[in-house]
Amino acid sequence: MTVTIVGSQLGDEGKGGVVDLYGDAADVVARYQGGDNAGHTVVHDGEKYKLSLVPSGAVRGKIGVLGNGCVVNPETLFDEIDTLRERGLDPDVRVAERAHVILPYHRALDGIEEEEKDDLAAGTTKRGIGPTYEDKAGRRGVRIGDLLDPDTLRERLEYVVPQKKALAEDVFDKETGEAFDIDHLYDTYREYGERLAEEGMTVDCGTFLQERIDAGENVMLEGAQGTSLDIDHGVYPYVTSSNPTAGGATVGTGLGPTVVGDGEVIGIVKAYLSRVGTGPLPTELGGVEGQTPDYDPDEGAGEDEEELATYIRDEGGEYGTVTGRPRRVGWLDMPMLRHAARANGFTGLAVNHVDVLAGLDEVKVGHSYEFDGEEILTMPSTTEQWGRCEATFKSFDGWPEVDWAAVAEDGYEAIPENARTYLEYVSDELDAPVYAVGVGPGREETVVVENPYE
Ligand code: GDP
Ligand code: IMO
Ligand code: MG
Repeated sequence: MTVTIVGSQLGDEGKGGVVDLYGDAADVVARYQGGDNAGHTVVHDGEKYKLSLVPSGAVRGKIGVLGNGCVVNPETLFDEIDTLRERGLDPDVRVAERAHVILPYHRALDGIEEEEKDDLAAGTTKRGIGPTYEDKAGRRGVRIGDLLDPDTLRERLEYVVPQKKALAEDVFDKETGEAFDIDHLYDTYREYGERLAEEGMTVDCGTFLQERIDAGENVMLEGAQGTSLDIDHGVYPYVTSSNPTAGGATVGTGLGPTVVGDGEVIGIVKAYLSRVGTGPLPTELGGVEGQTPDYDPDEGAGEDEEELATYIRDEGGEYGTVTGRPRRVGWLDMPMLRHAARANGFTGLAVNHVDVLAGLDEVKVGHSYEFDGEEILTMPSTTEQWGRCEATFKSFDGWPEVDWAAVAEDGYEAIPENARTYLEYVSDELDAPVYAVGVGPGREETVVVENPYE
């Protein structure tokens, strides 16, 4: 069967940790979208692994697959594989022949356009994600399979590179270097193709995964980013350029919707909210310069609120895994989560970072929004409307700091009562059972209620 792991908010909900937790019973872990914009942290045997591209399951000896819905930067891929090997692991990574390749000009153009966009900038990771998906949709992309076929690679580059060079030089008035040089790109990417071939890394993703399923193996589908960063269902244009929602798991792997729908879809929820990047955020606490719209560091949001934001940011280690940027933080946003529960059809939830809120007197959630004088329970479809929403808060009594490792060992009932009340509210509102509760970054710091593979 398949278990699909989906971020329900704005990324960094702790997906990597949940993949690691449940991945034990999986034979194959496949990512279905995104690229090295993701940053997934796995703590294994006291060692911390930060992965951008290699699926989180690879740390535990599972076959990791990058599905056709991913965009792959071969340089990052081989760097990560080499680093894991240096640390004594032997990751088995396969890449879909249909996945698109991130080329150096994509990264360059990502940076150039972000600068140009000003208020419309999403605050991207500048990894070339958007420009690569643009070329995929524009039918001028280079796919992993093309790297193994020199004539096709040459033909693709000869068509597309002059266009990119003209775009950078003539439209954006930038100088270009070897990132826009056909011969350089051809030589470099041919070599990547040779290494992919030598190591037998490329697969026809859908066929590969289906054969595993037919043989009775367990497949895990690992989403990156989160529902509100989805290009269709997120807060456009402050989104990524792919579909992290559960539908992306079928399109991005080549498994049928019935196969994915036959399994479980687990929504990963952070017990509060974090966001790296721009755009509105109705439940935001305080603000971060350069990311929070119209944020004035001198005015701030009031000392108490800024202090609380800093407290949560530091307790939760809310600094970007990929870019190191401080993340914006806020209270849990229920309209955002109701939207996610519908768009993904969650069969279960994993709620992480419950420990981070411990010790606060009061924990709030944005239960609904006030929008043009009316109360609404889910997100409006345009981001301009969302920006006009004011959260209506509901307050919960806080829970104490406890020995979380002991709680994880003793099980759900050992979670402080007020925290359980909070969890049960979330579960009721989303009409999905809680499968796991994260009470610390380590794997053993998780209260497991249900194992989806059992
Ligand atoms: P992902 O992108 O969804 O995989 O999440 P990230 O790895 O970017 O960010 C989550 C961070 O929170 C990582 O540093 C995790 O080790 C950590 N983490 C995950 N679950 C918990 C939890 O329940 N409590 C605490 N304190 N940290 C957690
Ligand atoms: P994981 O998988 C949090 C955000 C960026 C930016 C927007 C678009 O670790 O949860 P992109 O580089 O994708 O074009 O940037 O999306 N973003 C993420 N935020 N976690 C992520 O991944 C993210 N990947 C992209 O900050 O606002
Ligand atoms: Mg992350």
